[in-house]
Amino acid sequence: MAYTRTRTHVVTTVALLVGAAVVSSGCELVDAGGDERAVVLQAPPAFPPVPEPVHNRTTVSKVVLGERLFFEPSLSSDSTVSCGSCHDPDRAFAEPRPVSVGVQGRRGLRNAPSLVNTAYTPLLFWDGGSFSLENQVVAPLENPLEMDADLGEVLARINADASYRAQFFDAFGDSATVETFTQAIAAYERTILGMGAPFDRYMAGDADAISASAQRGLSLFNGEAGCANCHASYRFTDDTFRNNGLSFANADSGRARITLNPDDFSKFKVPSLRNVGITAPYMHDGRFPTLEQVVAHYVSGGTGSRGQDPAIKPLSLDASEQDDLVAFLRSLTDDEIRSGVTN
Ligand code: HEC
Ligand code: HEC
Repeated sequence: MAYTRTRTHVVTTVALLVGAAVVSSGCELVDAGGDERAVVLQAPPAFPPVPEPVHNRTTVSKVVLGERLFFEPSLSSDSTVSCGSCHDPDRAFAEPRPVSVGVQGRRGLRNAPSLVNTAYTPLLFWDGGSFSLENQVVAPLENPLEMDADLGEVLARINADASYRAQFFDAFGDSATVETFTQAIAAYERTILGMGAPFDRYMAGDADAISASAQRGLSLFNGEAGCANCHASYRFTDDTFRNNGLSFANADSGRARITLNPDDFSKFKVPSLRNVGITAPYMHDGRFPTLEQVVAHYVSGGTGSRGQDPAIKPLSLDASEQDDLVAFLRSLTDDEIRSGVTN
């Protein structure tokens, strides 16, 4: 798999880009006037333009700063855990453990989802508890099971560092505040984009881009297996919250945690299926180590737990059809995932 990632750790990269009208990366630099050079985010194939809030336009200096902060362990209480510790660029910014492990080995309750194409996600978290990337940043930082830090202390630490002070001034004409800090990280996250998978090349007319097995899997996914009832459209999610029939021994109240509506108990966000080939383990609590087990779960028709969605019912798929579904899911792995301002 020709999977590459792009990261920019050094501030000097910006200097290299000055004056460049277009660079051959996921992003195009244009002169936005003043010293604020905008990053034009290149949408994945067949996706609409990348959503970007007007109050936080994506600029080179914000993205470079946000990327540094994303991989900065001193944002955590004991300087051991960064955002990138749980959102690993080599795993489509997801994690290999069933549930997250934060400072001092503290185990969380849920599995860290992939952040690829996160700019497109209307409600973040498995329960939809956060409505924007800017708004989301403080949650892991202050969560005692994750980074366990105090935002005020973190900002003071950053402002005491001359190189961070310079970068914040460059990006915002200001020091690190709650607003500038969260905007920088969010601006970087918006650049984490998939550049298309074998599936996309197949849909664009390259009949050999995916195997015959994956092609049969695609038909099952959209037809008999009913997966597209929920995993719909170009991101393979309809952005709803559903109960897909898992057993809930260690009850996580799911969407009800946010809405307080008992009918939402144990409903979770329908996740995007892009890059599932490299984001094991699966589900909100990482209970299934393999895609074969995920498919076996759906074939079983679910456990019939309270609130199970009517679209989940037993499927009569033989072993080779189940393999076809897995082959199709693997064809959704992006050929390349880009992040930051350049490669
Ligand atoms: C200790 C591991 C851990 C660390 C550190 C961590 N995260 Fe996460 N992240 C998670 C988990 C677990 C979830 C899912 C939480 C939930 O749904 O309740 C998550 C969810 C997210 C989401 C929502 C994605 C979606 O599609 O719903 C974003 C965005 C995110 N994290 C960004 C960050 C940023 C930015 C940082 C650093 C400030 C960070 N994370 C640090 C584990 C971590
Ligand atoms: C009723 C809606 C619905 C249908 C139908 C459905 N899913 Fe899901 N799917 C979900 C929900 C909701 C989750 C997350 C559940 C959780 O974590 O508790 C999920 C999770 C997944 C995951 C795990 C993704 C990850 O990142 O952890 C995979 C893979 C998956 N589904 C594949 C499929 C396949 C293949 C089918 C068809 C056989 C299918 N789904 C049918 C709603 C659905």
